[in-house]
Order: sequence, then structure tokens, then C-alpha cells
Amino acid sequence: MNLRIDLLRELASAKHAMALTGAGISAESGVPTFRGADGLWSRLNPQELASFDAFLRNPDLVTEWYNHRREIANHAVPNGGHLALVQMETLFPDFTLVTQNIDNLHRRAGSKNVVELHGNIERNYCIECGKRYDGDAFEENESFKCPACGGLVRPDIVWFGEMLPADEWKRAEFAARKAEVIFVVGTSAVVYPAAELPVTVKQNGGKIIEVNIEATPLSSIADATLQGPASEILSDIVKQLMELQGIA
Ligand code: APR
Repeated sequence: MNLRIDLLRELASAKHAMALTGAGISAESGVPTFRGADGLWSRLNPQELASFDAFLRNPDLVTEWYNHRREIANHAVPNGGHLALVQMETLFPDFTLVTQNIDNLHRRAGSKNVVELHGNIERNYCIECGKRYDGDAFEENESFKCPACGGLVRPDIVWFGEMLPADEWKRAEFAARKAEVIFVVGTSAVVYPAAELPVTVKQNGGKIIEVNIEATPLSSIADATLQGPASEILSDIVKQLMELQGIA
């Protein structure tokens, strides 16, 4: 699936570029998505599992749910889509990768300039004293109590109804205001404020390239909508850009 040559030439000479990724980029690594036919939210209730109230009501259930998701993420391997974005970082003088995903796969793939809007499942902290328990410092059992103060330890991710980390949002907005192109990959584009970012790029004169297996609410304003699996489409785009830049 190729980008129109005029669009490609414009992109190949862009200085500021960015990507916004969603669960769809990790689908080919075996990490389940949220919406759509077999998405997590089609059989589980997010309000029961992904909110601070749910955590206080039933810390064991919520902790177990995130232990399960961490297990899936840890066993997942970054796929061609993640790796193509690592290469894309080298094709533009300024490239920011903004992700809604908490699975840590972009970092494991080797992306450097990553903005994690919804947090990272490898990070945890005590809700009382704030002490961090990242990576294997977190004992995977029922609700984990902070050895320092006995408080409950929660995953460092953004739950429904919670604010995004201010610094991360600032970085994402700053990138969107100057981006000449945003690659929107594997997101249903229905969760705000992340879904606002491509609109900000467009309002500031940038181009929207959407990569998804199906149309989304963003498709109608995208400059190009490339339908297919992210791993194939992104690898193609990188190949075309490298050829145009005389690198391939
Ligand atoms: N390649 C490209 N796109 C894909 C692929 C694939 N292989 N597989 C699925 N998709 C697309 C789906 O068509 C869908 O548009 O990925 C998108 C996944 O959408 P969601 O499941 O809604 O995930 P996302 O957009 O990341 O959700 C945003 O919602 O539940 C919250 O915090 C959670 O970060 C998440 C946010």
C-alpha cells in the first residue's frame, strides 16, 4: 500500500514529524485491543477494572487484572510496526512518538523519544507515600502493600476519569503544534484528549496519515488512510521514505 508520490515527497523533506499509536499497533504482538469485535471492553467492564474507585473497592481484583495484562505485555515481542517507528525516528530531524499504550513495547523496540500519555504497566507506586515499585520491584500477588508504609500499590497508568500526566500531555501538544505530519496508527481515535492531537496537527497545517485495518472517525479528515496491518503498512512507508531520501 503506497502513499501518493506527491504526499511522499512532501513527507520525505519534513523536519518535524510525529506518530500517535494505539492498541492496534500491538495487536500483531498478541496484546488484545479494547474496542471492536473481540476487544477487551466487549466482554469486560472498564468501570470495574480500570478506575481508581474500582481499585479502592476491590484492590485484589484490579491488581490481578493488571498482573495479567503485565504478563501478556512482558511475553509480547515488538512487531514490525514498532520496529518501523524506531527507523522512522532516524528519518526525520525531529520525531516524537506519542502512545496511548501502556505495554512498554515501543521502548522495548528501541524508540527513544516516547511520550506515554496513559502511563506504563512496568511502573507502579504507593497511593499513600508515593514510593515507586517499578519493573520486578513489584511483587505480583493480590493487592500489593507498600513495605515502607503499608499503603496500597497501584499501576502507574491513567484510569478512566483520571487526568493525563501533565508533562507528557504538554510534550505531546508541543509536538502536535509543530508537526508537518502525524502518523496515526492503530487507534479508534475515540478517546480524548489523545484523539485531539491529529486535529491540532491539521489545524497547524500538518498532514494526517492514518494507518488502521478499518475506518475511524478520523478517516474523514485524514490526508491519507492506509488500510491494513500496521506492521506491513509502516514498513512500506519507511521503505518508500528511505528510497526517496536516497538511503535505501
Ligand atoms: N493494524 C492496525 N490497526 C489495527 C490492527 C492492526 N493489526 N488491529 C487493530 N487495529 C485497530 C482497530 O481497527 C482499532 O481502530 O486498532 C484500533 C484499536 O482501537 P482501541 O481498541 O479502541 O484502542 P485505542 O484506540 O488504543 O484505545 C484508546 O482507550 O481503553 C482506553 O486507555 C485505553 O489507551 C486506550 C484508549
